[in-house]
Amino acid sequence: MEFKLIAEGLRAVESILRTTVDSDIKALHDASHHIISSGGKRVRPQVALLTYLAAGGDDIQTAVPMAAALEMVHTATLVHDDINDHSNTRRGKVTVHVKWGRTFALLTGDYLFTKVYELMAPYGTPYNGIMSSACIRLVEGETLQATVAKAGTMDAETYKTIISRKTASLFEAGAEMGALLANADDAVVQALISYAHNLGLTFQIVDDILDIVGDPEKMGKEVGLDLAQTRGVMAAEGIDGAAPITSTETEDVQEMIAQLRDSGAVEIARMQAVEVANRARTALDLVAESPAKEALLTLVDMVMDRDK
Ligand code: IPE
Ligand code: IPE
Ligand code: MG
Repeated sequence: MEFKLIAEGLRAVESILRTTVDSDIKALHDASHHIISSGGKRVRPQVALLTYLAAGGDDIQTAVPMAAALEMVHTATLVHDDINDHSNTRRGKVTVHVKWGRTFALLTGDYLFTKVYELMAPYGTPYNGIMSSACIRLVEGETLQATVAKAGTMDAETYKTIISRKTASLFEAGAEMGALLANADDAVVQALISYAHNLGLTFQIVDDILDIVGDPEKMGKEVGLDLAQTRGVMAAEGIDGAAPITSTETEDVQEMIAQLRDSGAVEIARMQAVEVANRARTALDLVAESPAKEALLTLVDMVMDRDK
């Protein structure tokens, strides 16, 4: 029953994402459809819909616009992030700024962000506050990351702050809104937020590991970019426990990737991912057994084992 509901919910999210970005302004229409129809794993909508069901919700359509709004925020940040990170490929396709230029890419990101207001408006309080707090934290995380990358002051503690804000924030918001929409008890709401926080951390650590060891073809984006900008998990770790990497200007990124693969830093990061993944699983102890809870546990495995 719940599996049918989640499939139905995800289909509805896809449909909303596409119709919401239609515009009579051709560049906005085309660039938005380009990034949205390129695929993407839709992990954030899955977290939102599954937490709603795991918290006892039974009318999946209630959670669908909110789940689509989360994906819309995420997609907007990818368009802007790819400008900042000088990325040429995203979701297996050319990035918006490479195809349409920086001006239209900035405007497309803005457009997608404004669509979040439209999708969230009917929910009122406290949902709009939860969403806006998550967006603020996300931008703070990206800005802190750019600041420390520039200053060469990345360390393990700062890395954790960055990934909490830039990545885990949206996962947490999805879980909190999902659980509240299902009228869950406060203990269950907090358990699901904790699950999502730790899943989000796991997701970003694995992403940063894939930046070193991943296959760009499978991932649909380039590798080595985070490292080149001194800001991935490996930059936080340093090589062999040595001082964090502070400058890559004169380094050959391919050479650094090779060094890191041999240094044990990937294994250390992997152990950290295992730890936060376990925290995500444990957080679900307080949530009643259900197929949706099983799917949330499976999602942790999928995030850990992903290669794209
Ligand atoms: C990429 O997110 C940015 C990170 C937070 C690591 P995803 O890996 O969820 O990207 P898509 O949506 O599947 O393309
Ligand atoms: C993507 O971050 C944007 C946010 C998480 C807000 P990253 O730069 O770490 O992700 P990729 O590697 O470009 O997908
Ligand atoms: Mg990036």
